[in-house]
Amino acid sequence: MSSKVDKVLDIRKKALLGGGEKRIAAQHKKGKLTARERIHFLLDEGSFEEIGRLVTHRSTLFGLDKNVFYGDGVVTGYGTVNGRPIYVFAQDFTVLGGSLAEAHAKKICRVMDLSMQNGIPIIGLNDSGGARIQEGVVSLGGYADIFYRNVQASGVVPQLSAIMGPCAGGAVYSPALTDFIMMVENTSYMFVTGPNVVKTVTHEEVSSEDLGGASAHSTKSGVTHFTYENEISCINGIKKLLSYMPQNCEEEAPALPYEAGDEMRPELNHIIPENPNQPYDIREVIDNVIDTDSWHEVHKDFAENIVVGFARLGGKSIGIVANQPNYLAGVLDIKSSQKGARFVRFCDSFNIPLLVFEDVPGFLPGTDQEWNAIITNGAKLLYAFSEATVPRITVITRKAYGGAYDVMNSKHIGADMNYAWPTAEIAVMGAKGAAEIIFRKEINASENPEQTLAEKEAEYAENFANPFSAAAYGFIDEVILPENTRSKLIKAFKMLETKAVKLPKKKHGNIPL
Ligand code: HXC
Repeated sequence: MSSKVDKVLDIRKKALLGGGEKRIAAQHKKGKLTARERIHFLLDEGSFEEIGRLVTHRSTLFGLDKNVFYGDGVVTGYGTVNGRPIYVFAQDFTVLGGSLAEAHAKKICRVMDLSMQNGIPIIGLNDSGGARIQEGVVSLGGYADIFYRNVQASGVVPQLSAIMGPCAGGAVYSPALTDFIMMVENTSYMFVTGPNVVKTVTHEEVSSEDLGGASAHSTKSGVTHFTYENEISCINGIKKLLSYMPQNCEEEAPALPYEAGDEMRPELNHIIPENPNQPYDIREVIDNVIDTDSWHEVHKDFAENIVVGFARLGGKSIGIVANQPNYLAGVLDIKSSQKGARFVRFCDSFNIPLLVFEDVPGFLPGTDQEWNAIITNGAKLLYAFSEATVPRITVITRKAYGGAYDVMNSKHIGADMNYAWPTAEIAVMGAKGAAEIIFRKEINASENPEQTLAEKEAEYAENFANPFSAAAYGFIDEVILPENTRSKLIKAFKMLETKAVKLPKKKHGNIPL
């Protein structure tokens, strides 16, 4: 008996070492943790239970018969984060560069299946050279098996992907199919083809970092939703993000204890500048409305003209979408529409109510936008809001012009409550543009066209640059004082807690892609 136990212990010890001490040292030298260390920091102490520790590959070609490692380059299992169960897989770069083939893929698929069957989120910690080249087509099949499950799980359980090393080739598409991606600065990158292939095909010279590093994907492509300075802060980011989410689409996100108190926020009365063309930071509004320190911004450095993120209001998790007057005047363009739409759909999938702050001059004009399909992309945001059945409230702080008024969670597309501040301007377009069009003849015929334009502009502004016309039609439920916003929202979301709306029977919608 004791020799058998010794054998088990010996195998376990070997398995825990992945690709061996030398490779672990090399991993550390690069500033990276090992797969097991990452799991250790992610999960509650002592909660990890491993699945498939002794799995190995069966390939014999290209020397693989001499390169067999327990676990086959991925550690899989389950545990808890802040007491809530999750499934996890962590690729082990010390084993064949974390490359994926048949056995490795099967292990990931197993935890994905368990995650879906049990309604528990799945976290992927990615660090992989992509398809294991020596195993050929089974590697491609393995990826496709994972992609298929990512899509089946989409909207059923939250799926989070942390990129903690290279993520090349097929390795990028599974994260891309998940809900959120986080990257670590300087040690992680994602690309379909690396710098060498890029050079051969397009003759561009580009470094891995510039091509697919955290900075490129957080600012240019928007592929990653979060970037972190190091792996520990990334792991803490995963834990924080999970705290705003339910375990699955049937549940609600956990609420924090909340004691009603003085909800007046007089600071809100002083944020909107006197001059309607002067910018301000919408985050100041958000900060003064939500529970203290509860803001968790998503996609912070991408399409900054729209701000999206999670927060708590009266202890409950909410998703916020807000135009940002501080950047491009908060205009809606292709990227901001994509960013907003994706976030709205996540919140709706997982029963997280939506709060919108609106200050938008309209859609961005120009050939660049038109030729790159602002029509299709703007429609994404319109579609996402229109299909969302979670409680939805909008607060118009200032401008709500043109089609953007409709798109930004108006009551016409299913929002439950729309409030406006006294500074709201709800109209087809800005007063100057409107006066130039409808009074063109009078302006041109006038002895003093500039003065006539100014007068007509003032006349239009008097009639429409306010919230009252919209309120008269019932499009705005109440014109509220900014200082009352938090209190109004807490009450309204409470009133909407039991909202139950079903979409018409369909297989699935056809969002403009
Ligand atoms: C097999 C691999 C591998 C892979 C890395 N290794 N990638 N083995 N298949 N895809 C092995 C290396 O041979 C090496 O083994 C060890 O892992 C560590 O790799 P290094 O190159 O020494 O590390 P580093 O310098 O950090 O470079 C990491 C890397 C590089 C950037 C990931 O290894 C690389 O470019 N790998 C190939 C990436 C790639 O082209 N993948 C696409 C595959 S095709 P030894 O024993 O020598 O130390 C694909 C298509 C799927 O994924 C499509 C599905 C839709």
